[in-house]
Amino acid sequence: MRSATALTTFATAFAARGYLPHQRLARDASGRTKKRLKNERHLGNALTEHVEKFALSKEEEWESPANGLKYTLQTQTMSDVGKTTHVIRSLDWDRDRFDIEFGLEKGTTYNSYVIEYGDNKVVLVDCSHEKFETLYMDALLELIGDMKRIEYIVCSHTEPDHSGLIGKVLETATNATVVGTKVCLAFLDNLVQKEFKQMVVKGGDAIDLGEGRQLKFIPAPNLHWPDTMFTYDTESELIFTCDAFGAHYCTEDVFDQSLQKLKPHFSFYYECLMKPNARSVLTALRKCETDGAKLSTVCTGHGPILKLNSDELIGDYKKWSEKALEKAKASVAVFYTADYGYSDRLSQSVARGIVKTDCEVAMIDLSTCDAQQIVEEVGRASGIVLLAPPNANEEIQDNIGVLIGAVKPGKQKILVAESYGGDDEPVDPLMRKFAEIGLQESQFPLKCQEAPTEGTYQEYEEAGTDLGQLLTQKEKLKEMKSGMSADVARALGRVSGGLYIVTAVQGTAKSAMVASWIAQASFEPLGFTIAVAKDRAIESLMQVGDSFVLNCLGEDGFEAPMKHFLKRFPPGADRFEGVDWKPAKCGSPILADAVSYVECKVVSRMDANDHWIIYSEAVDGGVFNQDAKTASHFRKVASYY
Ligand code: FEO
Repeated sequence: MRSATALTTFATAFAARGYLPHQRLARDASGRTKKRLKNERHLGNALTEHVEKFALSKEEEWESPANGLKYTLQTQTMSDVGKTTHVIRSLDWDRDRFDIEFGLEKGTTYNSYVIEYGDNKVVLVDCSHEKFETLYMDALLELIGDMKRIEYIVCSHTEPDHSGLIGKVLETATNATVVGTKVCLAFLDNLVQKEFKQMVVKGGDAIDLGEGRQLKFIPAPNLHWPDTMFTYDTESELIFTCDAFGAHYCTEDVFDQSLQKLKPHFSFYYECLMKPNARSVLTALRKCETDGAKLSTVCTGHGPILKLNSDELIGDYKKWSEKALEKAKASVAVFYTADYGYSDRLSQSVARGIVKTDCEVAMIDLSTCDAQQIVEEVGRASGIVLLAPPNANEEIQDNIGVLIGAVKPGKQKILVAESYGGDDEPVDPLMRKFAEIGLQESQFPLKCQEAPTEGTYQEYEEAGTDLGQLLTQKEKLKEMKSGMSADVARALGRVSGGLYIVTAVQGTAKSAMVASWIAQASFEPLGFTIAVAKDRAIESLMQVGDSFVLNCLGEDGFEAPMKHFLKRFPPGADRFEGVDWKPAKCGSPILADAVSYVECKVVSRMDANDHWIIYSEAVDGGVFNQDAKTASHFRKVASYY
C-alpha cells in the first residue's frame, strides 16, 4: 500500500511522464486550464490535503469519426479518495451529446477506481471509453506499476464509456477475473470477444479482500441499464454506483464541493436517465439500506464523487423519484429483453417518451423476470409496451405466455415494437394475439428494419409519449378544470403572442411545432425565451447547446403553415413532407412561408412544471418580407394555446 512518502514519489513519477502536478498548472497551461485552476482555488479545507496527490495528464486531441470534429481528452488521477482507493478520471472536456436526448453543456468524465488490498493486490472498478486508450492505460500503469497486480475487475455495467477498455486491460492483467451480473457478463462477452476469467455475482454476494474487508454487490437494474450493480467496500465505506448519482459535468473538481455549479447538471442527468426508472431508484436505495451500505461517499461513474453534499444529493434522488411516482397519473409496464438486439436502448426511448406525460414506468426484462413479477406489474399497469423478444428463446416465450394470460382485456392499451435483434418474433401476429383477447393497440406496431438512427429513437420516444397521453388525457383535463380560477384564466388569456413555427433537426431526427409563447429576453446577447410543453417531441432536440430555427409567420398567409403543423403526426412522421423549405446553417428548416427567420442556439432551460422555458441566443437570421406584419395570436382564456 502507498504511504505518504510513496505519494510524493507518485506525483514526481507523473511529472516525469508529462503529467502535470496540480501546482504547476498556472504556469504551464493554456487559458482554459487557468480558468479551471481558478475553480480549484475554491477547494474546501477538507480537500486541501489531497492537492499534492493530484495529477493531470497532457491533453490529447481526438477526432470523432461521426462528425470529424476535434475533442480534447485528458486524464486526472487522485490517490486516496478513500482508504487505499484511488480514482482515474477520463476527462472528455468537449463531449457535446449522449444519445439523441442528452445534450451536454460541460462535457463528461468516465471514472475508474483502483482499490489496493492485501499483499500488493488490486481491484479495478470500471475502466474508460476506448478513445482514452493511451491516456487511460498510461495512467493505470503509472498508478499500479504492474498490471499483474489486478486480481479483479468489477464491471458495474457494460456501456462502452465504462467498459470499452476492459478488453485492453485484460491483455496485460492476466491474473484478473471480471466480476459482474449475469446480464453484464453476457454483454461483455460480446464486447471483448475472447475468453476471460469471470465471476457472476448477485445480490448478497461479496468478495473477501482479507482482514474483514469485503466488497459487497448490490444489483441496481435499470439504473440505467439492466446489468447495473453497485459495489460497497465495507472497509473504506465507499460505494461505487457507475451511472447512478452521476452528472455529465467535466471539471477538475474530483469531489462535489461546487454544489451550486453541479446541481443543474446533476438534476438534468436525473431527469434524462433516472426519472424513467424512478421506482428502480427507490428500490436500489432501499436495498442499500438493508445491506448496510452507506451512501456517504458515492463514487460515481460520471462527474464528481459525492462526498461533501452526498446527503443532499442522494436525498434529491429520493425526493424526485417519490414525486415522480406520486404525480403519476397512470402506470405503464415496459417489457424488453436485455442483451438482445436494440431492445434495451429502444425500450429506454419509449420509456422516456412515456414519462414526459407524467406516467410511471416499470421496466421488466423478459430474460430475467419470473411469472409472479409479470403478473404483479401487469396487474397495476394501464398500459403495456412489448419490445419483440427473440423468437427462439423458450424461457422468454413462456414469459410471453404469462403476460398474455395476465393482461386485462378492455382495460389496457398496448404498444408492440420491433427490437432489431435479428430473430424478432414478428410483431403483427404478436399484436393480433393481444387484440384477439381484447387489448386495444395505441398505434400500429413499430417497425425497425435497419440499425436504429436518431430518427428511430425519436419515433420510439414519440410513440411512448402518444401512449402516455392516451392514458392520462382524461385525468389531466379533470385536473385542469378543477384547479383553475375562471377569472384568472380569462385575465391571463388577454396576454397575446405572435405565431411561429419552430423547426429542429439532428441527424435523421426532425421535428417542428407551432409556438406562440415567445418573448425577447435580452439585448446582449440577443436572446429570447420560448415555452415548450414537456411532452412535445421537439423538446428532445432543444437541449442546451442545440440549434433550431424560429420561423416567424406573417399576418397574411399564416393559416396554411399553422394548419399543417398543428396536425397530429404519427410517431416518426416527416413533418416537412409537402412543405417548401431550405436548410439554415445549422441544418434546421427555414420555411418558405415565413416572413423572417432566426437561427438560434439554446443557452439554458428552466423547469416550469408542465413546460420548459428555453432561453436561446439568436445567432443568425433574415427578413424575407420587409413590409409584412407578424401574425398575432389572441385567446379568450389561458387554459389552452
Ligand atoms: Fe455511463 Fe450507461 O453509461
